[in-house]
Amino acid sequence: MDWIALDERQQTGYTPIDEDHEQVVELINELARAITQHQSKAVCTELLERIIQNTKAHFARENRLMAEVHYPRAEGHMAQHARLLDEALALKRWFETASVESVMSVSLLHFLENWWTEHIPTSDQALSDFIASAKSR
Ligand SMILES: [Fe+2]
Ligand SMILES: [Fe+2]
Repeated sequence: MDWIALDERQQTGYTPIDEDHEQVVELINELARAITQHQSKAVCTELLERIIQNTKAHFARENRLMAEVHYPRAEGHMAQHARLLDEALALKRWFETASVESVMSVSLLHFLENWWTEHIPTSDQALSDFIASAKSR
């Protein structure tokens, strides 16, 4: 079973962004599976590393996009990315010392809460809407 799923709240309607999100979600679900199947810590750490790299690349892409389209709310959106990335990196540091299960249950959920259920449906949605209306002008 997938740990998180893409439902319509996470579909912004702007394909390049949605595809990026989809890739990261697949990795997160892979990590969740690895944890529930009691895979080695090395395997889990590697997956988390890939999640962070993909997330970083995705945030950089959105930041470039905002600059390109002169998005008026870019500053706040970029600040959210920086905060989310900090959280992800803190998660990785914790992962190095704590048990995989404890990280899974508390910190990963918290990170996902912020990123998945808050940032994407609000900030990314607003950006996608802005791009769509800029294109139709
Ligand atoms: Fe974003
Ligand atoms: Fe995003």
